Amino acid sequence: MPTQTALITGASSGIGKEFALALAARGGWNLILVSRDTQRLAPVCEDIRNLWQNDPTLVLKTETADLTIESQRDHLIQRNPTIDLLINNAGVGFGFSALATLDQTSANATTGMIDLHCAAPAHLCRLVLPGMLSRSKGSIINVCSRRALAPMPYLACYAATKSFLLYFSVALASEMRPRGIRVLALCPGSTHTKGNNNRKAASATSVVTQALAALDKNKTIYITGLANRLVFNALRLLPMTWSAAFQGWHANATRPR
Ligand SMILES: NC(=O)c1ccc[n+]([C@@H]2O[C@H](COP(=O)([O-])OP(=O)(O)OC[C@H]3O[C@@H](n4cnc5c(N)ncnc54)[C@H](OP(=O)(O)O)[C@@H]3O)[C@@H](O)[C@H]2O)c1
Repeated sequence: MPTQTALITGASSGIGKEFALALAARGGWNLILVSRDTQRLAPVCEDIRNLWQNDPTLVLKTETADLTIESQRDHLIQRNPTIDLLINNAGVGFGFSALATLDQTSANATTGMIDLHCAAPAHLCRLVLPGMLSRSKGSIINVCSRRALAPMPYLACYAATKSFLLYFSVALASEMRPRGIRVLALCPGSTHTKGNNNRKAASATSVVTQALAALDKNKTIYITGLANRLVFNALRLLPMTWSAAFQGWHANATRPR
């Protein structure tokens, strides 16, 4: 199998870092890791080099980009035109500490979240597709959230941006499947990372193992964790106002005080 190239956004921590380590452990993947500050990628690179040992054929590259800025997204793909696997993972504003009503949220945070969760993955997909289509193969993982599956009071903007990404990904998967491109909308449940310090959350390693298995099986939507699959598929059967009311009640009942 020839060596392929994966570009992972938000690779400096959490789920993105685990994607990088899992692909490094699989072998056969050149890796491009993206963060706003490449210094934060140094420990990840060290772990990857240890996994690769002395394999001189594999290439590890770090890239600095604030993905909310259009020119930085464009230059990132101009510098790296050949991508076989794009993982749109960078994200902000989840976990208990992020719970807030909209009037408590700043304009910058709201715009930044919409840009990072909606504009950035849509444009990165658009930019990598010509290369993938010319080779009639390629894969994209868009990291959405279980929050994409129902409106979420106190995380209103977060859940709505992830819904955008879910619907976008499923539609794109349908457009691209006949042309050889796989698109997976990954909906992780609560995952223990820098952005979510809930100790009961799943590990990022388990989320990534499930995600790569779902991609291998050509799935289009994958919700991590059986309990999440049961609860969030059930919520989708309720009228939307009921599921929002349930989610708001649940957030208030379970948030740490
Ligand atoms: N953890 C959870 O419970 C959970 C559940 C469902 C879905 N998710 C989703 O999973 C993804 C990863 O979450 P995580 O918990 O692993 O996050 P995390 O540990 O907090 O890491 C977030 C990553 O996003 C990057 N990032 C943030 N803003 C950026 C920007 N403007 N431009 C470029 N990169 C940026 C950060 O890189 P730098 O700071 O180094 O730039 C960092 O690598 C997110 O999309 C999140 O919504 C998480």
